[in-house]
Amino acid sequence: MAKIIVLDDLSEDGLNLLRSAANIEVEIRTGLKGDALKLALAESDGAICRSGVKITAESLQGNHRLKAIARAGVGVDNIDTKAATRQGIVVMNTPGGNTISTAEQTLALMYGLVRNIAPAHQSLVEGRWDRKKFMGTQLAGKTLGIVGLGRIGQAVASRAVAMEMRVIGYDPFVSAARAKELGVQLVGSPQELLPLVDILTVHTPLNEQTKNLISTKEILVMKKGVRLINCARGGIYDEAALVEGLKSGHLGGVALDVYGEEPCTNSPLFGMPNVLCTPHLGASTEEAQTNVAVEAAELLIDFFTTGAIKQSVNMSPLDPKTLESLRGYLNVAYRLGLLLAQGDHRSPTSCRMSYKGEVAKKDTRLLSQAFAAGLLAHAVQGVNIVNAEVLLRERGIELVEQRSTDIGDFSSLITAEVVSDEKTSSAAGTLFGNNMPRLVQKNGCRLESFLDGTLMIFIHRDMPGVIGSVGNIFGRHQVNIAQMAVGRPSNKPGGEAVGVLSLDSVPPAAALADILAMPQVTRAWTVKLPPAGELPSWLGG
Ligand code: NAD
Ligand code: MLT
Repeated sequence: MAKIIVLDDLSEDGLNLLRSAANIEVEIRTGLKGDALKLALAESDGAICRSGVKITAESLQGNHRLKAIARAGVGVDNIDTKAATRQGIVVMNTPGGNTISTAEQTLALMYGLVRNIAPAHQSLVEGRWDRKKFMGTQLAGKTLGIVGLGRIGQAVASRAVAMEMRVIGYDPFVSAARAKELGVQLVGSPQELLPLVDILTVHTPLNEQTKNLISTKEILVMKKGVRLINCARGGIYDEAALVEGLKSGHLGGVALDVYGEEPCTNSPLFGMPNVLCTPHLGASTEEAQTNVAVEAAELLIDFFTTGAIKQSVNMSPLDPKTLESLRGYLNVAYRLGLLLAQGDHRSPTSCRMSYKGEVAKKDTRLLSQAFAAGLLAHAVQGVNIVNAEVLLRERGIELVEQRSTDIGDFSSLITAEVVSDEKTSSAAGTLFGNNMPRLVQKNGCRLESFLDGTLMIFIHRDMPGVIGSVGNIFGRHQVNIAQMAVGRPSNKPGGEAVGVLSLDSVPPAAALADILAMPQVTRAWTVKLPPAGELPSWLGG
């Protein structure tokens, strides 16, 4: 008998499914934290939660019983998945079940904000018939900016188009063709979109790139009177900058469903004019809650009755033998994906994988999927070797491959290209020994570099003095260079060349600015890869 603990409120349909399953015992204990949570988890085989409970490393410490956690919802940011992986606990989520409801909440906030629904209602309840004070704005004809065109962003886009809004979107992993199908004008950066929009809504995960994506600097480049909506994650908008923007009148309104700290019952935004807030209700519809609860219950029932691992965000359901035989090359392909994701790609239309030599005899489909998992790793939560290709396809990006068993300069070579209408970025990697991934080509230039840690890649004119000057700049900024590789497309000097530096620390922005100021350098960027030897959780790391 497997004991499953329910840690947050869950729809009755999901609970009934669990209760009716053979060999499963259900205990409901919501609102747990600290030692009480730790003890409850230690006495359970499975757990099911929404976003209320925080399953931290401490709450899992020393737990030898818990095998699986199912998150009824998308975001797993309330679960320490690394700690869970270390302890062999499978974490699964249910993406998709609350997409439409969250998109509808976004539209509800948008309408509520531009038509002053909440304050007008309050004024009427208080006995006033004030028709002048609550003059609104029509949405049809206005421009909506969407940052993040994944499941929810796309659902918002198609609805906004139906509402006769003009929609402009930014997402580094959506093809122009998919955007066109949705009726969205795709731009290459949030900065391009900001000055054009009347309303902005964000639908990305909260991560290093999206934290404080919109702060005072960004607000000031937007139109005066712009309105901002957030039904994704608190922290994507800098809340202090929102207060400032509303006070100065630059912001015409703010509507939030999510907050930097949750639960949030005390914010300077609450009660300010032109602010509309809800307590994380995006997924709070009967339909969404039934969907995610039933899906999460099914995941746990399957896991405890058949051992099936589906929708896992931290473990691969592939059999361990296959994984073991491919581990080194899966790691190379994954790292190439991580590397190219951090370069300058704009609305890719396809990813082309080419396998040459010994590696071409292996299951290259899995390797291509590992590449896709690396490419999307920072953008999409819960991506792994199983779902990555589908996630690319949903964004209009094709994943194609070619194989040749001819041996070239390397006994095995994996080349990855991210292709967009404007340009193609490429990188190739191989495995030295059993487990030393190496970068051996970047943008057609042959070189030999580590494929781990912090790298700085710079494109420059191949002429004397460049490398010395780059070294001096890093010296001045106290950044130690661990290794340096330079390559050019042909053997002739003087053309465009690529340099890849392995650095012992992340260079400060000023160092990068100094490199970019060199007349011979056309582009330079930093890439962060996992340390040598570190594998993604689905690969047993
Ligand atoms: P998704 O993974 O389908 O889509 C996220 C998209 O963001 C991806 O297409 C990705 O490429 C894009 N992205 C990542 N980094 C980006 C960046 N720096 N700039 C632009 N785009 C970027 O996720 P989803 O299911 O659509 O969920 C979106 C967000 O909504 C998540 O944060 C999720 O946790 C949250 N959410 C909130 C509620 C709620 O109750 N308010 C409900 C469900 C989901
Ligand atoms: C999610 O990530 O699914 C949402 O934030 C909704 C929830 O909290 O369940």
